[in-house]
Amino acid sequence: MSVTEQPAPGAGHDPDGDTAAEQLRDRISADSLTTRRDYLRIVATVSGGLAIGGVGVAAGILHRHGDSETLPEAKKVTDGLAPGQSVAFRFPGDEDRALAVRLADGSLVGYSAVCTHLACAVLWREDRGAEGELYCPCHEGIFDARTGEVTAGPPPRPLPRIFLTEQADGSVWAIATARSGEPAREALCRQFGDSRPEVTQQLGCPGAPAATTEKGRT
Ligand code: FES
Repeated sequence: MSVTEQPAPGAGHDPDGDTAAEQLRDRISADSLTTRRDYLRIVATVSGGLAIGGVGVAAGILHRHGDSETLPEAKKVTDGLAPGQSVAFRFPGDEDRALAVRLADGSLVGYSAVCTHLACAVLWREDRGAEGELYCPCHEGIFDARTGEVTAGPPPRPLPRIFLTEQADGSVWAIATARSGEPAREALCRQFGDSRPEVTQQLGCPGAPAATTEKGRT
């Protein structure tokens, strides 16, 4: 979740998820992703709500929707994104269509742009809905811009989330993905996995090594 992202007033969301998002914000931004990839220090946080529902995605669709079991290579999406603007990009693979959107309140969100109905391209429509919509023109599918949840039409599942970070220079980077309906922590634990044990430790992922305390160090 971006530092600027806030739940919509009155919108349904998971309070626990919000807390977890704040924790992720601190932890991810403090992590050494930048060191690993020689990027500038990530000063913002992971974009992506934690309140997506629990609907799974059929295995055959996962690849098509760009899901990644392992941590994908971080990718610069744009040098900057103004409120109301969106940018199309490919992530995690070159064939995986994705969208990053800056909502009017400054929130930064990212999603797969592959409709969960029949895989048409999902578009950002700032002129639709209260704060814009993610719109699939093939069969009038509509997804909530803030959560990716289906709000109208035939799509059976939310749009898979893409986690974004924003750097001090305003550039936006994609760093990880979630499956449709997958909680953010679960998605990050799955992808950081063995490659980033210190991050999984910080996230409190199942099976992660226990944190080492100052007292415990010799
Ligand atoms: Fe998107 Fe049918 S393919 S609504």
